[in-house]
Amino acid sequence: MRDRTCAGMVLDLAFPIFFLILLLPCSLIRAQNTGAIGINDSVTAGDKRATPWLSPSQDFAFGFRQLANNKDLYLLAIWYNKIPDRTIVWFANGADPAPTNSKVQLTAQQGLVLTTPQGGEIWTSGISMGEAAQGFLNDTGNLVISNSRAEKLWQSFDDPTDTLLPTQTMEQGGRLSSRLSETNYSQGRFQFRLLHDGNAVLNTNNLPTGLAYDAYFWSNTYDTNVSNAGIRVVFNESGYLFVLRANDERVLLTQGRVVSATENYHRATLNFDGVFVLYSHPKNFSGGSGNWSIIRTMPANICTSIRLGMGSGPCGFNSICTLDDDMRPICRCPHESFSLLDPEDKYGGCKPHFPTQYCDDNYSADNFDLVELTNTDWPQTDYETYSPYNIEECTKACLQDCFCNVAIFGEGTCWKKKLPLSFGRQDTSVNRKAFIKVRKGNFTLPPASPFPPFPYPKKKEDALVLPVLLGTSVFANFLLVGLVSFCFAFFYRKKLSRNAPPVERSVQSNLRCFSFKELAVATDGFTEELGRGSFGTVYKGFIELGARIPVAVKKLDRVVQESEKEFKTEVEVIGQTYHKNLVRLIGFCEEGEHRLLVYEFLSSGSLSSFLFGAMKLSWNQRTEIALGIARGLLYLHEECSTQIIHCDIKPQNILLDEYYDAKIADFGLAKLLFLDQSKTYTNIRGTKGYVASEWFRNMPITAKVDVYSFGVLLLEIVSCQKSVETERNGEGKILTYWAYDCYQEGRIEALVENDEEALNDMRRLDRFVTVAIWCIQEDPTLRPTMKMVMLMLEDIIQVPVPPCPFPFTTT
Ligand SMILES: *[C@@H]1O[C@H](CO)[C@@H](O)[C@H](O)[C@H]1NC(C)=O
Ligand SMILES: *[C@@H]1O[C@H](CO)[C@@H](O)[C@H](O)[C@H]1NC(C)=O
Ligand SMILES: *[C@@H]1O[C@H](CO)[C@@H](O)[C@H](O)[C@H]1NC(C)=O
Ligand SMILES: *[C@@H]1O[C@H](CO)[C@@H](O)[C@H](O)[C@H]1NC(C)=O
Ligand SMILES: *[C@@H]1O[C@H](CO)[C@@H](O)[C@H](O)[C@H]1NC(C)=O
Ligand SMILES: *[C@@H]1O[C@H](CO)[C@@H](O)[C@H](O)[C@H]1NC(C)=O
Ligand SMILES: *[C@@H]1O[C@H](CO)[C@@H](O)[C@H](O)[C@H]1NC(C)=O
Ligand SMILES: *[C@@H]1O[C@H](CO)[C@@H](O)[C@H](O)[C@H]1NC(C)=O
Ligand SMILES: *[C@@H]1O[C@H](CO)[C@@H](O)[C@H](O)[C@H]1NC(C)=O
Repeated sequence: MRDRTCAGMVLDLAFPIFFLILLLPCSLIRAQNTGAIGINDSVTAGDKRATPWLSPSQDFAFGFRQLANNKDLYLLAIWYNKIPDRTIVWFANGADPAPTNSKVQLTAQQGLVLTTPQGGEIWTSGISMGEAAQGFLNDTGNLVISNSRAEKLWQSFDDPTDTLLPTQTMEQGGRLSSRLSETNYSQGRFQFRLLHDGNAVLNTNNLPTGLAYDAYFWSNTYDTNVSNAGIRVVFNESGYLFVLRANDERVLLTQGRVVSATENYHRATLNFDGVFVLYSHPKNFSGGSGNWSIIRTMPANICTSIRLGMGSGPCGFNSICTLDDDMRPICRCPHESFSLLDPEDKYGGCKPHFPTQYCDDNYSADNFDLVELTNTDWPQTDYETYSPYNIEECTKACLQDCFCNVAIFGEGTCWKKKLPLSFGRQDTSVNRKAFIKVRKGNFTLPPASPFPPFPYPKKKEDALVLPVLLGTSVFANFLLVGLVSFCFAFFYRKKLSRNAPPVERSVQSNLRCFSFKELAVATDGFTEELGRGSFGTVYKGFIELGARIPVAVKKLDRVVQESEKEFKTEVEVIGQTYHKNLVRLIGFCEEGEHRLLVYEFLSSGSLSSFLFGAMKLSWNQRTEIALGIARGLLYLHEECSTQIIHCDIKPQNILLDEYYDAKIADFGLAKLLFLDQSKTYTNIRGTKGYVASEWFRNMPITAKVDVYSFGVLLLEIVSCQKSVETERNGEGKILTYWAYDCYQEGRIEALVENDEEALNDMRRLDRFVTVAIWCIQEDPTLRPTMKMVMLMLEDIIQVPVPPCPFPFTTT
């Protein structure tokens, strides 16, 4: 590692976070380890002093778990108590989460009873007969209620949710149901059942009636000669899952290597995406975070397994399913002119956001194009088949048919299909091409909601796109930000009225002033948290502006003591920025100590998830995004009436709208929060990996700090690699060094390895990397302005060969 300052930072940060993560669950646990639960014993949700009930070995705990997406609601659950992610294996009230101060009590008459603080009954276990005498949480994870003669009256193993544990069995007629999503525990779209004919199957089902659709996996243990049918699904204590036939034959569902059950936990969980997975997890993971490893997934490929009948499969309608390395589905829309039906739900399907073709003149074939997708198929909803046909005949037939939304071509056969498309899959095994019909040009639907007209003084073609959505910062990022107090954007402004175009100065801010009560109602009492950052917490809400409009409400929690007038002045400065590449501020609230900002809501989330996550953007999309960010920054630096230096440019602060247009978030905020007027910049603002060296060198802070951060971000966008990657052995890789090495050695293609599209665009790749190296010069005076950056990126001026960016750093 060459830069000692940076290396030190990485390690200093990694350490406390690591410990904090490890200690969090442990601190919640206090010993109480007989496993026995007496009559009238109770646990209260949200009571910090209450301990969950533990099994004798403390492997399992029973009690309340706060919901991740709603801190006031609790799930009554059993979970692994010793592993950091405290995986839940059973839950009582998935569809009906309990409010704070709800209580679960073991009663003699009804078994376990879960009641609200007002005494309303949410859930009871019931008991089969007689009177309960005690409860017991077994080391197997089974919660048993028994009478005074130790006969079982109820056990959680008989009432499974989405998970089976070793020693648990499931009889004919039994079922597991998936949860609805990662964080919503109500009943989901998938089931694992042992049918009365002896077959164990996975099937989708219709919500809310629960009607079962066709199976997409089966054990083949049915038998018309009943004496040989499967009678029970058994998960034995060694971690083998099998169907036991009437003649004692075992049909194993476990087909991977089963690790020792004394040293590992095992579980079989029907995930919310329909994949039934056998997992193991080492009991002794001494210090390492440990993980669930996969022994087997059923089916092997869920994307291609679900192909018959009704329902929407793992990804929803009009979507495309691909498998990730863990054999779990990744869902995405087929084209950028489609977007998620529910922006919050990647598995909920897609809708076209252009008017689809109708059979009248205005929507004639001339307005549409077919976009080709290789190895892609939607096996359902055909209404015509042609054979033999060639590709040209096939695409022509669809283009000219106003009913046709998709043509599928394979092996001389052509199928025409209608919306909604179901069970879309993309896989190398799919020997078909799909041609999907989209509106020509970058057509967008007219605004869905009547906002007051926004003045966009700079560019006329900037169509207003509504409603759009606001992304969230990830939890890890929040932790990091919380731990190191210097991760703040810094706002610095100076009057540039000479440069300001006259139209800008005359713009009247049309920000709306909300009352706190209005925003409390809009956000349903600040319940749905979108994310947290250094400035406060962001909640989702809806406001009425002619129509119900989704918004992101940012509740600032560190407002510096400032007169009301100053707050308003700063907010108006932010409110006067109108640019396609900036997140729009709609209004604000200042009431008592409350300071809130109301922003447009952007559904696609932050750029970081598209760069470093499973879903990658194409090279063309990435270059467009880079240009968008550059335009936004140029506007902040040079084109608004008051210069705004962002100071915290990083992927988490770039949000994407549904057309993947980049929008810069959180600009201008630090001025509200850190009124550092002294101009001695002793505290570093910004985020590690993106901060320019001026911050460390007691040099004046100018707009060039943003140019530096933009350079780092540009390298990330080009390479899809993080600026600082800490590896397991504590070694770090610093992207700027690596990129310069590649540049200097003339092998920039290493930066985009395997990205065909980028490799076919070497001139632009070279230009972008060279510009980035100019931006990350340690000497701020060498860095270009954003204006120059823009001209170079757009190939309007030539990019000279840059000097070494790190002259001050010793090797
Ligand atoms: C449980 O509470 C009920 C009602 O308060 C009481 O009648 C009963 O004796 C209690 N049982 C035990 C075992 O404490
Ligand atoms: C706990 O589970 C084991 C294995 O199923 C069983 O042998 C034991 O009897 C159970 N203990 C109680 C108290 O139910
Ligand atoms: C879970 O999803 C259902 C159905 O969409 C919804 O009614 C319910 O409020 C959700 N629950 C939580 C806790 O988000
Ligand atoms: C049904 O199974 C029994 C016992 O396995 C066997 O004796 C009988 O012949 C079978 N009947 C048929 C019709 O296969
Ligand atoms: C569990 O099942 C497997 C597969 O049938 C078998 O090899 C193993 O002995 C069983 N374990 C126990 C404890 O019965
Ligand atoms: C856990 O594993 C470490 C090394 O992997 C070993 O030193 C330690 O004794 C183990 N602890 C237990 C309780 O088995
Ligand atoms: C745990 O899994 C995640 C992703 O599945 C992986 O990135 C990480 O390296 C794993 N950790 C360990 C200790 O295996
Ligand atoms: C078709 O377009 C023409 C011209 O743009 C317009 O006058 C007419 O109302 C449109 N017809 C329909 C049915 O939308
Ligand atoms: C969008 O359309 C306009 C005019 O129709 C065009 O100038 C612009 O280049 C298009 N943008 C993209 C990203 O295709």
